[in-house]
Amino acid sequence: MYQVGIITASDKGSKGEREDLSGRLIQTLIEEKGYRVHRYVVLPDDEEALAKEMLYMADELQLNLILTTGGTGFSQRDITPEATLKVITRQAPGISEAMRYNSLQITPKAMLSRGISGIRGKTLIVNLPGSPKAVKESLGFIIDTLHHGIQILVGDTSECGQK
Ligand code: MTE
Repeated sequence: MYQVGIITASDKGSKGEREDLSGRLIQTLIEEKGYRVHRYVVLPDDEEALAKEMLYMADELQLNLILTTGGTGFSQRDITPEATLKVITRQAPGISEAMRYNSLQITPKAMLSRGISGIRGKTLIVNLPGSPKAVKESLGFIIDTLHHGIQILVGDTSECGQK
């Protein structure tokens, strides 16, 4: 069973001024697919705090997958992709491309997410946008294929099969 960390980036959420529906939704959706959520945190939109948490989840807890939500847009405080870039050593742009490509069929505003994806050690990190609607749609486009990527990343398989 692959281990997951969830990070919600939200100034209001971290102060308890907004309920974190998106982080909870990620938990529900990912557990339905057989993953185990090992750690879940709500942090302010602070580059250092976000990067530190990702490092902890990857290096100390050695989680297989980190899903972030929020902080990918254009507002002055949105900083999740920059925090992620500090932590990853290899980019995996296809995952974010798949989310944006498919999401654009639903809303042109999908182009406004700057989210990135990448790898640190044996941990895959994926930025999702912030709203529950965006989380459900974006994760839906990648969730089944993520599993194969993690299998290869951690060495559980080297075969890609036919599809
Ligand atoms: N992607 C999907 N699939 N559905 C959406 O509704 N909303 C967009 C975009 N991605 C959206 C989406 C909007 S309105 C914004 S501003 C950006 O994600 C960034 O969101 P964030 O700043 O909450 O991360």
